[in-house]
Amino acid sequence: MTANKKLILGMGMIDGYGGLHGAWRAPHVDPAIYTDVDATVRHARAAERGKFAFLFTPDFPAVRGDVEQNPISNLMDPLIELTAVARGTTNIGFVATGSTTFQEPFNTARQFKALDVLSHGRAGWNAVTTSSPIVAANYGRQIADRGERYQRAHEVIQIVQGLWGSWQKDAWIKDQAANRFIDPAKLQPINMQGQYVASRGPLGIPPSEQGQPVVFTSGGPSPHLLSIAGRYASGFIAEVWTIEEARAQRELVRNAARDAGRDPDEVKYIPGIMTTVAPTVREGLDRRLKYSGDVIDARLPHLGPMLGIEIHPDRFDEPLTPQQLASAHASPRDPRSANALAVARQGWSPRDVIAHGVIDFHPTVVGPGKLHADHLQEWFEAGAADGFWMTPDIYEDGIDDFVDEVVPILQERGIYPTDYAGSTLRENLCVPEQYGLDPRITGAED
Ligand SMILES: Cc1cc2nc3c(=O)[nH]c(=O)nc-3n(C[C@H](O)[C@H](O)[C@H](O)COP(=O)(O)O)c2cc1C
Repeated sequence: MTANKKLILGMGMIDGYGGLHGAWRAPHVDPAIYTDVDATVRHARAAERGKFAFLFTPDFPAVRGDVEQNPISNLMDPLIELTAVARGTTNIGFVATGSTTFQEPFNTARQFKALDVLSHGRAGWNAVTTSSPIVAANYGRQIADRGERYQRAHEVIQIVQGLWGSWQKDAWIKDQAANRFIDPAKLQPINMQGQYVASRGPLGIPPSEQGQPVVFTSGGPSPHLLSIAGRYASGFIAEVWTIEEARAQRELVRNAARDAGRDPDEVKYIPGIMTTVAPTVREGLDRRLKYSGDVIDARLPHLGPMLGIEIHPDRFDEPLTPQQLASAHASPRDPRSANALAVARQGWSPRDVIAHGVIDFHPTVVGPGKLHADHLQEWFEAGAADGFWMTPDIYEDGIDDFVDEVVPILQERGIYPTDYAGSTLRENLCVPEQYGLDPRITGAED
C-alpha cells in the first residue's frame, strides 16, 4: 500500500430509512420518506459534505419479506431517483445496480450513459447477475443456471461497453455554420451478437466528462463472478465479516484482474459496514435496541450456537457467567462468531451483544466516532479494503453524525481526502480512463 493512498467512502442508499429495521418508526423520521426524493437528495448532500465518492443503490425489484411491519428495502427506482439526486448535488457519484440477467443491454447502456452525461460524469453501473426467484417472477422468467447467467453477463457487459463507445469521442461536430451536427462516420453500428443478447447500435449519446460510466460488480467470490470482476470491474462491492476474509477475497479479486492482464490497483475492493454513531457505546446500543424492530428478539436464540454454549432466555439480560465465558468458543461455521465472542467477553449481556450488530449483514460499529475511525483504519491498513460502503442506522441523522464525528478523525489521520480529487466518479475513485470496450480484454481497437 502506498503511503499517500486514501480510503474511499460510499453510502448504501437502501430505502431512505436506515440499516435498522425499525428506523421507519423513529419519531424524527417521516414514515413516507420512501417516496420523498427531497429526502434522498438531503441524505446525498450530507454524504457529499463528507466527501463520499459515491452512493450505492442495491436493486431487488420485488416486494420481499414482511412488509406489514418493515419497509420495502429498495428505492422505488434507483436510476430515476438518482437522476433527481444528480440535480441536487455536484461531486458525489452514483453506483447503481443494474441486472445483467433481466435487463436488455441496450436499455442498460442508454439509461446509465444518460445518467452519466446529465450528472457530468458521475455514474457507475454495478453489473450483477440476479439469482432471486421472486425478481425473476416479476419478469415472467425463471432463474437459469449459473453458467448461463454468467455467460449472459459477459455478453451484456461487452455490448453495453461497445454501445458506450459507439459514439466516438469527436463525433459531435455541432457546427451551425457548416450545417454539420454529427460526423456519421464516427457514429457506427457495433453489430454485436452473443448467444443470449445482441445489439446493432450505435447509441445516440455522446461521451460524458468521464467518458462512460464506471463498472462495478458485487457478490460472493465464485470463479464465475471473479471472471467478471477481473475483466471489467473498477469496483467490487463486498459483504465480508472479518479482516482475514476480506484480505483473502480482495486478493482473489486482484488476482483475477492480474489474470485478465490488468493492474490490480484498477479494481477497488469495497466491503460494507453498518454504523451507529453515538457519544457512548451504551447510548448507541440503546438507540439500536429502540429501533431494531423485532430482529433482536429473533436473533437472540442464535447467539448460544455461535458461541458453543447454552444461553437460557431468562438470562438474555445478564452478562455471561464466568463458566459460560470459559467454555465459549467461536463457531467455525459462522465467520461472525469470533467478533460475537469478543463482544461477549467485554461483559455485555446477550441482548447487548446482539445490539452490537454481531449477526448483521456487515460488520457493525456502535459508539463514538473514534471507534468507527479505528475500525476503518485497521481494515484499510491491513490490506482488507480500498474503501467501504457504509449504511447508517437511520439516514435522517446517522449520516450527518458520521460526517461530523468520523470523517474529521480520518482526515486528521491523513487516510481520507479533505476534498474531492475531481468532479467525476472516475477521478474520485482514482481509476483509469476507459472509453468503449477495454482492448486488453476484448482485443477491440480503441
Ligand atoms: C454486497 C452484495 C450486493 C449485492 N447487490 C445485489 C443487488 O443489488 N441486486 C441483485 O440482484 N443482486 C445483488 N447481489 C447478489 C449477487 O449479484 C449474486 O446474484 C448473488 O451473490 C448470487 O450469486 P451467483 O449469481 O454467483 O450464484 C449482491 C451481492 C452482494 C454480496
